[in-house]
Amino acid sequence: MPRPITRKGKKIALVPPAKEDTILYTQWLNDSEVNRGLNLHTEMPLTVDQEEKWYEENITKNPSDKTIFAVMLLKNKKIIGNVGLESIHPIHQSAELGIVIGEKKQWGKGYGEEILRLILDYGFNTLNRKSIFLRCFEYNDRALKLYKKFGFKMQGKLRKNSYYDGKLHDTYYLDMLKNEFNKRYKRT
Ligand SMILES: CC(C)(COP(=O)(O)OP(=O)(O)OC[C@H]1O[C@@H](n2cnc3c(N)ncnc32)[C@H](O)[C@@H]1OP(=O)(O)O)[C@@H](O)C(=O)NCCC(=O)NCCS
Repeated sequence: MPRPITRKGKKIALVPPAKEDTILYTQWLNDSEVNRGLNLHTEMPLTVDQEEKWYEENITKNPSDKTIFAVMLLKNKKIIGNVGLESIHPIHQSAELGIVIGEKKQWGKGYGEEILRLILDYGFNTLNRKSIFLRCFEYNDRALKLYKKFGFKMQGKLRKNSYYDGKLHDTYYLDMLKNEFNKRYKRT
């Protein structure tokens, strides 16, 4: 059955996740090139069982402080990643962004930018968040380049708080405000 589309871009749509996606999540998250940016390499290997538990807690139970979408390629309806907002706070009107394109062959095609447009439009203009932030490890060059080009602003870093590949690394904090997003991208 086709999934209902929550947000549609040119090549990408955000759709509700499905339990069967946990098989894909497990494959993606066990890939060291994918998980290095998520700091999940410390928890490898991840099993389908663990991912199903994660799905139960974070999607089936529909917690009010987070919303997670599957990322679907419009041309073939394939699920290539997921993206979500967490720590959705009712008083502070803020949220934290997380994004993963798990299918590596889909990197470098501009999908990251399109996904950011869709999820931030959802976060700012549907959930009425005023501020959305993200955390990114200093060695994640591809992600940092995307975020900066997109218009996220670097706000600071935690020094040497993440261990990867034999070294401790800084974690950057970047953010964007609702008015900055709407000025730059407008609603379509
Ligand atoms: C981060 C991610 C979402 C980026 O999406 P994407 O569609 O692959 O983005 P792109 O490949 O178009 O890259 C964005 C920019 O980085 C550049 N780039 C590609 N490889 C790069 C590299 N190794 N080093 C530096 N920049 C690089 C691209 O050229 C592009 O810039 P351009 O638009 O000027 O050409 C995706 O790579 C991903 O899901 N990675 C694994 C999980 C992850 O790290 N998530 C982020 C956690 S903070």
